[in-house]
Amino acid sequence: MSKKVIILGGEGNGGVVAACICDMNERYNDYEYEVMGFLNDMEDVASEINGYPVLGKTADHVKFHQNDIYFMFAIHPVGHGSLRINLFDQLNIPVEKLATIIHPSAFVGYNVEINPGAMIMANSYVGPAAKIGKCALLMSNTVVGHNTQVGDFCHVSVGAVISSYVKMGTASDVALNATVLEKVNIDKYAVVGAGAMITKSVNENEIVVGNPQRVLRLATDKRRY
Ligand SMILES: CC(C)(COP(=O)(O)OP(=O)(O)OC[C@H]1O[C@@H](n2cnc3c(N)ncnc32)[C@H](O)[C@@H]1OP(=O)(O)O)[C@@H](O)C(=O)NCCC(=O)NCCS
Repeated sequence: MSKKVIILGGEGNGGVVAACICDMNERYNDYEYEVMGFLNDMEDVASEINGYPVLGKTADHVKFHQNDIYFMFAIHPVGHGSLRINLFDQLNIPVEKLATIIHPSAFVGYNVEINPGAMIMANSYVGPAAKIGKCALLMSNTVVGHNTQVGDFCHVSVGAVISSYVKMGTASDVALNATVLEKVNIDKYAVVGAGAMITKSVNENEIVVGNPQRVLRLATDKRRY
């Protein structure tokens, strides 16, 4: 019998998690998980997200701690790394209640450490001896090179290519189609912008874009996007 998964989040990253599980079921006959529904704190959210029921607010996870129910934390807004951590810590979800989802089409090398709550989406490549942190999301067609560390709560967007021996700090982002060369550090809460070419380390909270890379602003600057 499948394990039931409740997704914390919305139609963005949460919808991708649901789509990943749905594809595993329907196209690959892999029924390890089935989506039970969403938990979402937005007041204006509908009663369904992508056809799945909204079962309550994120704090309501405590009502669903039965044996066969697991959680995916998919609240990863780009450039708001500290928010991810604060929200997750407040919720106090036991680590053993986190699902870990690896799409069957992903390549995962030997000696890879994949921590609870992580998702590796379709067609991704994770090289040998890489580490994927707790609740890190690797979206489709991403590359994580050998011996690279993707920190807890990191988000790697579609098509990003991260070379070997890279260290991504906690809750940092590498956005769409960016390239990160080997042995570079992306410090915690930093953002590598879409399409950037990263040849040098990125400091905590820096949002960098372009080729050659330049600091656009700090994630701590007061603005939303
Ligand atoms: C890095 C990022 C967050 C910057 O967004 P932002 O702070 O809203 O930036 P703005 O749109 O206000 O643009 C500010 C300036 O930077 C430039 N800029 C923004 N993003 C850029 C990028 N990725 N590369 C080059 N220049 C960029 C803009 O052209 C603008 O320049 P101007 O002032 O000369 O007009 C954004 O580019 C990005 O990568 N978003 C994440 C995309 C993603 O991966 N989503 C998840 C999908 S799974």
